[in-house]
Amino acid sequence: MNPKLAPLFTRRSVRRYSGEPVTDAEIRDLLEAAMAAPSACATDPWHFVVLRGRPALDALAGVLPNGPMLKQAEAAIVICGDPARAHRNQESYLLQDCSAAIENILLAASLLGLGACWLGVHPNADRMEPIRRQLGIPEAILPVSAIALGRPAEFPELRTRFRAEAVHAGKW
Ligand SMILES: Cc1cc2nc3c(=O)[nH]c(=O)nc-3n(C[C@H](O)[C@H](O)[C@H](O)COP(=O)(O)O)c2cc1C
Repeated sequence: MNPKLAPLFTRRSVRRYSGEPVTDAEIRDLLEAAMAAPSACATDPWHFVVLRGRPALDALAGVLPNGPMLKQAEAAIVICGDPARAHRNQESYLLQDCSAAIENILLAASLLGLGACWLGVHPNADRMEPIRRQLGIPEAILPVSAIALGRPAEFPELRTRFRAEAVHAGKW
């Protein structure tokens, strides 16, 4: 592992939070990072719903069985995509662009000393529809993923998951 890349390997999913606040300026920083992500033909098909406060975060936890840590989180960001803006209106480009924005948020959170965890939403209709109803997301917009955020109360070790057998030199 090249030590110059340590900030990248330090990013880990953090699922326990201390309860200390996450500031509005930090959320703004995360959103700036998100919207600096690569996007096919720079179409930027993403939207971000920022959730604060116990009732909203508990309600999101209520519809995401995969996100129990939302009950301790200080904030959450629900990443959505607009197919009408995506390159060639294609869902695959929308998902790739939103995933790049999500990874930028996770890396920025790690660099700012925040804890964050990616929560899968798309393509599970039983997660997408309740989130859509709860947050008033228009029918044409896809809720893609959520990110739980807080000040970390656990510190997973930095690591690489490099597997030589996943690399194919020249041909498979
Ligand atoms: C598309 C996607 C969906 C994920 N959904 C969840 C989830 O619902 N709940 C959760 O706790 N972690 C979720 N994760 C986080 C992964 O479990 C985590 O990234 C993986 O175990 C690697 O660990 P690391 O993030 O600490 O490197 C998701 C990650 C991705 C990329």
